[in-house]
Amino acid sequence: MRRAAITAVGAYLPPRRLTNADLEKLVDTSDEWILERTGIRERRILGRGKGSAYMAIKAAEEALQKRQIDPAEIDLVIVATVTPEHPFPATANIVANAIGAHRAWGFDVEAACSSFLYALSSAADSIVAGRVQKALVIGSDKMSAIIDYTDRATCVIFGDGAGAVLLEPTDEEVGIMDYHHQADGSGCAFLHMKAGGSVLPPSLRTVRNRLHYVYQEGRQVFKHAVVQMAAASEALMKKHGLTADDIAFFVPHQANRRIIEAAAQRLGLPMEKVMLNIDRYGNTTSATLPLCLYDYESQLKKGDNLILATFGGGFTWGALWLRWAY
Ligand code: ACO
Repeated sequence: MRRAAITAVGAYLPPRRLTNADLEKLVDTSDEWILERTGIRERRILGRGKGSAYMAIKAAEEALQKRQIDPAEIDLVIVATVTPEHPFPATANIVANAIGAHRAWGFDVEAACSSFLYALSSAADSIVAGRVQKALVIGSDKMSAIIDYTDRATCVIFGDGAGAVLLEPTDEEVGIMDYHHQADGSGCAFLHMKAGGSVLPPSLRTVRNRLHYVYQEGRQVFKHAVVQMAAASEALMKKHGLTADDIAFFVPHQANRRIIEAAAQRLGLPMEKVMLNIDRYGNTTSATLPLCLYDYESQLKKGDNLILATFGGGFTWGALWLRWAY
Protein backbone atom coordinates (compact mmCIF):
# COMPACT_ATOMS: atom_id res chain seq x y z
CA MET A 1 0.00 0.00 0.00
CA ARG A 2 1.23 3.49 -0.85
CA ARG A 3 1.80 5.62 2.24
CA ALA A 4 3.19 9.10 2.96
CA ALA A 5 6.36 9.19 5.03
CA ILE A 6 8.20 12.03 6.69
CA THR A 7 11.68 11.99 5.14
CA ALA A 8 13.18 15.20 6.56
CA VAL A 9 12.49 17.77 9.27
CA GLY A 10 13.59 21.42 9.47
CA ALA A 11 13.05 24.16 12.02
CA TYR A 12 13.53 27.83 12.71
CA LEU A 13 13.52 29.56 16.09
CA PRO A 14 14.16 33.28 16.36
CA PRO A 15 17.28 33.96 18.44
CA ARG A 16 15.62 36.45 20.83
CA ARG A 17 14.59 34.84 24.14
CA LEU A 18 11.77 36.14 26.35
CA THR A 19 12.35 34.64 29.80
CA ASN A 20 10.01 34.41 32.77
CA ALA A 21 12.17 37.07 34.43
CA ASP A 22 11.53 39.39 31.45
CA LEU A 23 7.77 38.81 31.83
CA GLU A 24 7.94 39.63 35.54
CA LYS A 25 8.86 43.17 34.39
CA LEU A 26 5.84 43.39 32.05
CA VAL A 27 2.95 41.92 34.09
CA ASP A 28 2.12 40.84 37.64
CA THR A 29 3.51 37.30 37.47
CA SER A 30 6.44 35.26 38.74
CA ASP A 31 8.90 32.72 37.41
CA GLU A 32 7.58 30.32 40.07
CA TRP A 33 3.92 30.66 38.96
CA ILE A 34 4.71 30.26 35.27
CA LEU A 35 6.98 27.26 35.79
CA GLU A 36 4.62 25.49 38.18
CA ARG A 37 1.42 26.14 36.19
CA THR A 38 2.76 25.73 32.63
CA GLY A 39 6.30 24.28 32.67
CA ILE A 40 7.58 27.19 30.55
CA ARG A 41 10.95 28.87 31.27
CA GLU A 42 11.37 30.94 28.11
CA ARG A 43 10.01 31.45 24.60
CA ARG A 44 11.40 32.89 21.37
CA ILE A 45 10.24 36.18 19.85
CA LEU A 46 10.51 37.21 16.18
CA GLY A 47 11.30 40.88 15.67
CA ARG A 48 9.14 43.49 14.01
CA GLY A 49 8.92 43.53 10.21
CA LYS A 50 9.16 39.75 9.91
CA GLY A 51 6.20 37.39 9.78
CA SER A 52 5.32 33.72 9.80
CA ALA A 53 6.54 33.28 6.19
CA TYR A 54 10.08 34.29 7.21
CA MET A 55 10.26 31.43 9.73
CA ALA A 56 8.42 28.97 7.45
CA ILE A 57 10.90 29.61 4.62
CA LYS A 58 13.91 28.95 6.89
CA ALA A 59 12.37 25.73 8.26
CA ALA A 60 11.38 24.49 4.78
CA GLU A 61 14.81 25.25 3.32
CA GLU A 62 16.48 23.24 6.08
CA ALA A 63 14.22 20.22 5.45
CA LEU A 64 14.93 20.34 1.69
CA GLN A 65 18.64 20.80 2.23
CA LYS A 66 18.84 17.82 4.62
CA ARG A 67 17.28 15.55 1.98
CA GLN A 68 19.09 17.27 -0.92
CA ILE A 69 15.78 17.86 -2.71
CA ASP A 70 15.45 20.44 -5.47
CA PRO A 71 12.52 22.75 -4.52
CA ALA A 72 11.21 22.40 -8.08
CA GLU A 73 10.34 18.77 -7.21
CA ILE A 74 7.78 19.90 -4.59
CA ASP A 75 4.14 19.51 -5.72
CA LEU A 76 2.32 20.80 -2.65
CA VAL A 77 3.08 23.31 0.12
CA ILE A 78 0.73 23.57 3.09
CA VAL A 79 1.38 26.13 5.80
CA ALA A 80 -0.37 25.57 9.12
CA THR A 81 -0.76 28.91 10.87
CA VAL A 82 -3.09 31.14 12.88
CA THR A 83 -0.83 34.11 12.18
CA PRO A 84 -0.63 34.20 8.38
CA GLU A 85 1.64 36.75 6.74
CA HIS A 86 -1.52 38.52 5.41
CA PRO A 87 -5.26 37.73 5.70
CA PHE A 88 -4.80 36.76 2.01
CA PRO A 89 -3.14 35.46 -0.09
CA ALA A 90 -2.09 32.28 1.67
CA THR A 91 1.30 32.24 3.37
CA ALA A 92 1.93 28.95 1.50
CA ASN A 93 2.09 30.90 -1.79
CA ILE A 94 4.68 33.31 -0.41
CA VAL A 95 6.75 30.44 0.97
CA ALA A 96 6.58 28.35 -2.22
CA ASN A 97 7.73 31.31 -4.29
CA ALA A 98 10.58 32.20 -1.91
CA ILE A 99 12.01 28.68 -1.72
CA GLY A 100 11.73 28.13 -5.50
CA ALA A 101 8.91 25.55 -5.40
CA HIS A 102 7.63 26.91 -8.70
CA ARG A 103 5.68 23.80 -9.71
CA ALA A 104 3.80 23.60 -6.42
CA TRP A 105 0.28 24.56 -5.47
CA GLY A 106 -0.62 25.19 -1.88
CA PHE A 107 -2.79 26.72 0.79
CA ASP A 108 -2.93 27.53 4.48
CA VAL A 109 -4.68 25.46 7.14
CA GLU A 110 -6.10 27.33 10.10
CA ALA A 111 -7.33 25.11 12.90
CA ALA A 112 -5.66 26.87 15.85
CA CYS A 113 -3.25 24.56 17.66
CA SER A 114 -4.44 21.58 15.58
CA SER A 115 -3.43 23.26 12.31
CA PHE A 116 -0.24 21.23 11.80
CA LEU A 117 -1.83 17.84 12.44
CA TYR A 118 -4.76 18.63 10.14
CA ALA A 119 -2.33 19.86 7.44
CA LEU A 120 -0.13 16.78 7.80
CA SER A 121 -3.15 14.48 7.46
CA SER A 122 -4.41 16.33 4.37
CA ALA A 123 -1.02 16.26 2.65
CA ALA A 124 -0.59 12.56 3.47
CA ASP A 125 -4.00 11.79 1.94
CA SER A 126 -3.02 13.61 -1.26
CA ILE A 127 0.13 11.48 -1.49
CA VAL A 128 -1.76 8.25 -0.78
CA ALA A 129 -4.27 9.20 -3.50
CA GLY A 130 -1.35 9.48 -5.93
CA ARG A 131 -2.03 13.12 -6.80
CA VAL A 132 1.07 14.44 -5.06
CA GLN A 133 4.63 13.04 -4.94
CA LYS A 134 6.43 15.44 -2.64
CA ALA A 135 4.81 17.78 -0.14
CA LEU A 136 6.07 20.27 2.39
CA VAL A 137 3.97 20.72 5.53
CA ILE A 138 5.07 23.68 7.60
CA GLY A 139 3.78 24.87 10.98
CA SER A 140 4.73 28.51 11.53
CA ASP A 141 3.33 30.97 14.03
CA LYS A 142 4.35 34.41 15.17
CA MET A 143 2.16 34.32 18.27
CA SER A 144 3.83 37.48 19.60
CA ALA A 145 1.90 39.34 16.86
CA ILE A 146 -1.48 38.47 18.46
CA ILE A 147 -0.60 38.38 22.15
CA ASP A 148 -1.50 41.15 24.57
CA TYR A 149 1.62 41.71 26.68
CA THR A 150 -0.51 43.38 29.35
CA ASP A 151 -2.60 40.19 29.86
CA ARG A 152 -0.79 37.85 32.24
CA ALA A 153 -3.20 34.99 31.55
CA THR A 154 -2.03 34.61 27.94
CA CYS A 155 1.30 36.41 27.46
CA VAL A 156 3.27 33.92 29.53
CA ILE A 157 2.16 30.96 27.40
CA PHE A 158 2.94 31.65 23.77
CA GLY A 159 6.11 31.92 21.67
CA ASP A 160 7.21 32.14 18.02
CA GLY A 161 8.73 29.42 15.85
CA ALA A 162 8.39 27.17 12.82
CA GLY A 163 8.91 23.53 11.91
CA ALA A 164 8.67 21.84 8.52
CA VAL A 165 8.41 18.25 7.34
CA LEU A 166 8.98 16.82 3.88
CA LEU A 167 6.52 14.09 2.88
CA GLU A 168 7.27 11.50 0.21
CA PRO A 169 5.52 8.32 -0.93
CA THR A 170 6.68 4.92 0.29
CA ASP A 171 5.62 1.31 -0.22
CA GLU A 172 7.06 0.29 3.14
CA GLU A 173 5.04 -0.10 6.36
CA VAL A 174 6.18 3.32 7.63
CA GLY A 175 4.86 6.87 7.53
CA ILE A 176 1.41 8.18 8.40
CA MET A 177 -0.54 5.03 9.32
CA ASP A 178 -3.86 6.52 10.42
CA TYR A 179 -5.44 9.47 12.20
CA HIS A 180 -8.50 10.33 14.25
CA HIS A 181 -9.54 14.00 14.26
CA GLN A 182 -12.57 15.83 15.63
CA ALA A 183 -13.90 19.36 16.11
CA ASP A 184 -16.57 21.06 18.20
CA GLY A 185 -17.48 24.61 17.19
CA SER A 186 -19.18 25.30 20.51
CA GLY A 187 -15.66 25.65 21.94
CA CYS A 188 -15.21 28.92 20.01
CA ALA A 189 -16.50 30.84 23.02
CA PHE A 190 -13.51 29.85 25.15
CA LEU A 191 -10.62 30.50 22.76
CA HIS A 192 -10.72 32.99 19.90
CA MET A 193 -9.73 36.39 18.58
CA LYS A 194 -12.64 38.79 18.80
CA ALA A 195 -11.86 41.24 15.98
CA GLY A 196 -10.07 41.39 12.64
CA GLY A 197 -12.36 38.96 10.83
CA SER A 198 -15.38 39.71 8.66
CA VAL A 199 -17.83 40.01 11.56
CA LEU A 200 -15.78 42.68 13.31
CA PRO A 201 -13.27 44.23 10.91
CA PRO A 202 -10.42 46.31 12.33
CA SER A 203 -11.46 49.79 13.45
CA LEU A 204 -10.26 52.39 15.92
CA ARG A 205 -12.73 50.93 18.41
CA THR A 206 -11.50 47.35 18.06
CA VAL A 207 -7.89 48.47 18.48
CA ARG A 208 -8.70 50.68 21.47
CA ASN A 209 -10.57 47.80 23.12
CA ARG A 210 -7.66 45.41 22.54
CA LEU A 211 -9.78 42.98 20.53
CA HIS A 212 -7.01 41.82 18.17
CA TYR A 213 -5.40 39.50 20.67
CA VAL A 214 -5.86 35.88 21.78
CA TYR A 215 -8.82 35.59 24.15
CA GLN A 216 -8.74 32.45 26.26
CA GLU A 217 -10.69 31.04 29.20
CA GLY A 218 -7.82 28.88 30.33
CA ARG A 219 -9.57 26.56 32.79
CA GLN A 220 -12.26 25.50 30.28
CA VAL A 221 -9.65 24.89 27.59
CA PHE A 222 -7.45 22.96 30.01
CA LYS A 223 -10.26 20.55 30.97
CA HIS A 224 -11.19 19.77 27.37
CA ALA A 225 -7.57 19.49 26.24
CA VAL A 226 -6.68 16.76 28.73
CA VAL A 227 -9.78 14.69 27.98
CA GLN A 228 -9.80 15.01 24.19
CA MET A 229 -6.07 14.60 23.50
CA ALA A 230 -6.09 11.38 25.51
CA ALA A 231 -9.42 10.17 24.04
CA ALA A 232 -8.33 10.71 20.42
CA SER A 233 -5.00 8.94 21.06
CA GLU A 234 -6.73 6.11 22.90
CA ALA A 235 -9.29 5.61 20.10
CA LEU A 236 -6.52 5.40 17.52
CA MET A 237 -4.39 3.01 19.58
CA LYS A 238 -7.38 0.80 20.34
CA LYS A 239 -8.40 0.65 16.67
CA HIS A 240 -4.95 -0.68 15.76
CA GLY A 241 -4.35 -2.82 18.86
CA LEU A 242 -1.46 -0.62 20.00
CA THR A 243 -0.54 -0.64 23.68
CA ALA A 244 1.66 1.80 25.62
CA ASP A 245 4.55 -0.69 25.20
CA ASP A 246 4.29 -0.39 21.39
CA ILE A 247 4.74 3.39 21.47
CA ALA A 248 8.28 4.78 21.23
CA PHE A 249 7.17 8.38 21.78
CA PHE A 250 4.00 10.34 22.52
CA VAL A 251 4.24 13.71 20.74
CA PRO A 252 1.69 16.03 22.33
CA HIS A 253 0.90 19.62 21.44
CA GLN A 254 2.95 21.76 23.83
CA ALA A 255 0.30 23.97 25.47
CA ASN A 256 0.93 23.27 29.13
CA ARG A 257 3.17 20.70 30.82
CA ARG A 258 0.34 19.75 33.20
CA ILE A 259 -1.98 18.97 30.25
CA ILE A 260 0.75 16.83 28.70
CA GLU A 261 1.41 14.93 31.95
CA ALA A 262 -2.29 14.28 32.54
CA ALA A 263 -2.83 13.03 28.97
CA ALA A 264 0.25 10.77 29.12
CA GLN A 265 -0.93 9.35 32.44
CA ARG A 266 -4.35 8.52 30.97
CA LEU A 267 -2.58 6.66 28.16
CA GLY A 268 -0.32 4.79 30.61
CA LEU A 269 2.80 6.34 29.06
CA PRO A 270 5.80 7.23 31.25
CA MET A 271 7.23 10.74 30.81
CA GLU A 272 10.47 9.26 29.32
CA LYS A 273 8.34 8.42 26.28
CA VAL A 274 6.90 11.93 25.96
CA MET A 275 8.47 14.57 23.72
CA LEU A 276 8.78 17.88 25.55
CA ASN A 277 10.19 21.27 24.59
CA ILE A 278 7.60 23.59 26.14
CA ASP A 279 10.15 24.71 28.74
CA ARG A 280 12.28 26.32 25.98
CA TYR A 281 9.75 27.52 23.42
CA GLY A 282 6.35 27.84 25.17
CA ASN A 283 3.27 27.19 23.05
CA THR A 284 4.24 27.91 19.43
CA THR A 285 0.72 26.85 18.25
CA SER A 286 1.18 25.28 14.76
CA ALA A 287 4.89 24.72 15.26
CA THR A 288 4.93 22.64 18.47
CA LEU A 289 4.67 19.19 16.83
CA PRO A 290 7.26 19.60 14.05
CA LEU A 291 9.59 21.30 16.55
CA CYS A 292 9.28 18.24 18.81
CA LEU A 293 10.12 15.92 15.89
CA TYR A 294 13.09 18.15 15.04
CA ASP A 295 14.43 18.19 18.59
CA TYR A 296 14.07 14.40 19.08
CA GLU A 297 15.07 13.38 15.53
CA SER A 298 18.41 11.90 16.65
CA GLN A 299 16.61 9.62 19.15
CA LEU A 300 14.25 8.13 16.55
CA LYS A 301 14.78 4.86 14.68
CA LYS A 302 13.12 3.51 11.55
CA GLY A 303 9.90 1.70 12.52
CA ASP A 304 9.35 3.60 15.81
CA ASN A 305 5.66 4.12 16.53
CA LEU A 306 4.77 7.70 17.45
CA ILE A 307 1.40 9.06 18.51
CA LEU A 308 1.04 12.77 17.74
CA ALA A 309 -1.82 14.47 19.59
CA THR A 310 -3.21 17.97 19.65
CA PHE A 311 -5.92 20.21 21.03
CA GLY A 312 -6.69 23.81 20.13
CA GLY A 313 -9.14 26.61 19.52
CA GLY A 314 -12.30 25.71 17.66
CA PHE A 315 -12.33 23.43 19.57
CA THR A 316 -10.23 21.19 17.35
CA TRP A 317 -8.34 18.07 18.35
CA GLY A 318 -6.91 14.88 17.01
CA ALA A 319 -4.29 12.17 17.08
CA LEU A 320 -2.12 10.67 14.36
CA TRP A 321 -0.19 7.40 14.31
CA LEU A 322 3.15 7.81 12.60
CA ARG A 323 5.74 5.10 11.99
CA TRP A 324 9.14 6.78 11.68
CA ALA A 325 10.68 6.19 8.26
CA TYR A 326 14.45 6.71 8.77
N1 ACO B 1 0.84 34.87 36.83
C1 ACO B 1 0.29 34.85 38.04
N2 ACO B 1 -1.01 34.57 38.25
C2 ACO B 1 -1.76 34.29 37.19
C3 ACO B 1 -1.25 34.31 35.87
C4 ACO B 1 0.12 34.61 35.71
N3 ACO B 1 0.71 34.65 34.52
N4 ACO B 1 -2.24 33.97 35.01
C5 ACO B 1 -3.35 33.77 35.75
N5 ACO B 1 -3.05 33.97 37.06
C6 ACO B 1 -3.95 33.84 38.21
C7 ACO B 1 -5.39 34.04 37.84
O1 ACO B 1 -5.72 35.41 37.82
C8 ACO B 1 -6.08 33.28 38.94
O2 ACO B 1 -6.14 34.09 40.08
P1 ACO B 1 -7.45 34.07 41.03
O3 ACO B 1 -7.53 32.64 41.54
O4 ACO B 1 -7.10 35.08 42.06
O5 ACO B 1 -8.58 34.42 40.14
C9 ACO B 1 -5.13 32.12 39.23
O6 ACO B 1 -3.86 32.51 38.70
C10 ACO B 1 -5.54 30.82 38.60
O7 ACO B 1 -5.94 31.08 37.25
P2 ACO B 1 -6.32 29.93 36.25
O8 ACO B 1 -6.67 30.52 34.92
O9 ACO B 1 -7.31 29.03 36.91
O10 ACO B 1 -4.91 29.16 36.17
P3 ACO B 1 -4.62 27.76 35.57
O11 ACO B 1 -3.95 26.91 36.54
O12 ACO B 1 -5.81 27.19 34.83
O13 ACO B 1 -3.51 28.12 34.46
C11 ACO B 1 -3.42 28.37 32.08
C12 ACO B 1 -3.82 29.02 33.40
C13 ACO B 1 -1.91 28.21 32.09
C14 ACO B 1 -3.83 29.31 30.95
C15 ACO B 1 -4.11 26.99 31.91
O14 ACO B 1 -5.48 27.13 32.18
C16 ACO B 1 -3.95 26.40 30.55
O15 ACO B 1 -2.86 25.98 30.16
N6 ACO B 1 -5.04 26.28 29.77
C17 ACO B 1 -5.05 25.58 28.50
C18 ACO B 1 -4.29 26.29 27.42
C19 ACO B 1 -4.43 25.51 26.12
O16 ACO B 1 -4.31 24.31 26.08
N7 ACO B 1 -4.75 26.20 25.03
C20 ACO B 1 -5.04 25.46 23.79
C21 ACO B 1 -4.09 25.72 22.76
S1 ACO B 1 -3.91 27.41 22.39
C22 ACO B 1 -4.59 27.64 20.79
O17 ACO B 1 -5.32 26.84 20.28
C23 ACO B 1 -4.27 28.95 20.10
